[in-house]
Amino acid sequence: MSERLELVGVAGAGTMGCGIAHVLLRAGYAVVLTDEVPQALGAASEKITAGLARDVEKGRLTDQARQQALGRIETSAQLDALSPAGFIIEAVTERFDVKAEVLRKLEVFCPSDVVFATNTSSISVTRLAATTGRPQRFLGLHFFNPVPVMTLVEVVAGVETLPETVEGACQFARSLGKIPVRVNDFPGFVSNRVLMPMINEAVYAVMEGVAEPQAVDEVMKRGMNHPMGPLELADFIGLDVCLDIMKVLYEGFRDSKYRPCPLLEKMVHSGRLGRKSGRGFYDYSTAQAGSTTAG
Ligand code: CAA
Repeated sequence: MSERLELVGVAGAGTMGCGIAHVLLRAGYAVVLTDEVPQALGAASEKITAGLARDVEKGRLTDQARQQALGRIETSAQLDALSPAGFIIEAVTERFDVKAEVLRKLEVFCPSDVVFATNTSSISVTRLAATTGRPQRFLGLHFFNPVPVMTLVEVVAGVETLPETVEGACQFARSLGKIPVRVNDFPGFVSNRVLMPMINEAVYAVMEGVAEPQAVDEVMKRGMNHPMGPLELADFIGLDVCLDIMKVLYEGFRDSKYRPCPLLEKMVHSGRLGRKSGRGFYDYSTAQAGSTTAG
């Protein structure tokens, strides 16, 4: 691999961008991580440092490799710091206008042969690709939270994405120790088209009084061997994110089977967003996180 291809640019230092940077460093890449919010960069650096130390503890990395990895990351509040990168992963806020603005800026200073990947979980890859001058070298690389743990990368081809772009991205995902699965660009791709209706249905079960959240989760964990129940997972993902994705499915397919559950909407409107707000289907505000708050 050329020196430029070994340098990967990650735009956005939130949960996903930070996790992606961690995995890239662990796999031996050099990383430039940008975020317009300096505090986000500070928090990401701390999290990555702790994550790499954990990798050493668990025998996934030698201490020497950890030290070298820490020497290969640069953080910046300026997006143009990504200009030397040979591959760009966009992981900024999950809003079309925000992503499009970042992509338009990147287009100006990134060489035209550089592949742009978006980590979007629900926005049309084809539509995002059309905001750039390189739709053939643009695709979705959808990582899963927690990125250092989850092995899947959903590789999403837009209408114009070239087969070699998809193939290169699959190789790249494998080089990170991930398993790429190719899908085409449809609302929710495969992951969220299947996952979110399940979560939404679990919320309906609570709203209709079929069972308490803990009972719904227990059924799916013990009966279906899911590591987290759907409502615990919804809290983990963020109820606002779940609602946004249900809206993408509902509007994208214009099919009532994707209608967002009114209880999900009510909880989001009241500010109960799950773990990040301290309260969702469960209460995370005290040391005894996990008590039911909705039913
Ligand atoms: N960030 C980083 N690492 C984390 C983590 C986090 N938030 N949560 C757990 N981990 C790590 C732990 O540190 C631990 O790693 P070590 O090997 O270093 O010990 C490992 O994960 C296992 O953790 P635990 O033993 O504490 O807990 P667990 O066995 O219950 O596993 C879990 C935790 C991996 C999160 C598991 O519950 C799980 O797989 N849950 C489902 C997660 C899931 O479905 N994610 C996809 C969400 S959808 C999405 O991301 C995309 C979208 O578009 C919405």
